[in-house]
Amino acid sequence: MPITIKSAREIDLMTEAGRILEKVHLELEKALRPGMSTLEIDRLGEEVIRGYGCIPSFLNYNGYPASICVSVNEEVVHGIPTADRIIKEGDIVSLDAGVIYKGYHSDAARTHAVGKVSREAEELIKVTRECFFEGIKYAKEGNHLFDISGAIGRYATERGYGVVRDLCGHGIGTALHEAPEIPNYEMNRRGVKLKAGMTLAIEPMINIGGYEVDWLDDDWTVVTRDRSLSAHYENTILITDGEPKILSLTKTE
Ligand code: MF3
Ligand code: CO
Repeated sequence: MPITIKSAREIDLMTEAGRILEKVHLELEKALRPGMSTLEIDRLGEEVIRGYGCIPSFLNYNGYPASICVSVNEEVVHGIPTADRIIKEGDIVSLDAGVIYKGYHSDAARTHAVGKVSREAEELIKVTRECFFEGIKYAKEGNHLFDISGAIGRYATERGYGVVRDLCGHGIGTALHEAPEIPNYEMNRRGVKLKAGMTLAIEPMINIGGYEVDWLDDDWTVVTRDRSLSAHYENTILITDGEPKILSLTKTE
């Protein structure tokens, strides 16, 4: 599939999808507390998404059974919310959400510390977020796609972290996953040239330990092989002829 270039009208719709998704994340962050089940997070997320007149894009995507991916501690991504998984003080919780607004998707993830967490956990969350911002320094028309990948990968590995290789960022638009795939590690080639109007979901997944991951028997939950902590940070962005626009993040953070 070729990489789609969005029209001004499509960009407006994706901007709105991103603005709504940011609000969903803010609601979830506000609600997150020890004692809450991961299913409660999902229920709240779905309610907020539908309240904005959107469809949760993850629900039933390839059979995924929920609206919000909730991945705790050594879980990297795609944790399935359940009633018996209770969040506790000291956990780090990755929340990944997607909305469809008038046929257009946005996709974003945040990792939150619940109460007081270890210094290592705090640092991991911070560096994972920084990886995203390091990557998008290169997200400009005329640069190449894997310039972003290399910047993310180098930033994390220089600091001793493991960079997940089995999952990537992606193009996004009328589908949650469009071309191209966007690795979070240095590639041997530069990849396609970036053009204004491309919309991309950039999503570093970073581990305190090794980069290797396993899939649990539920077929979804991805965990670090060494069971070290993992964090995830993702936004939907728009390539322009100048600085990229972060569609799922405006003033906050
Ligand atoms: N941000 C994740 C991704 O791009 C969301 C996956 S959702 C699921 O892969 F529906 F596949 F669970
Ligand atoms: Co994504």
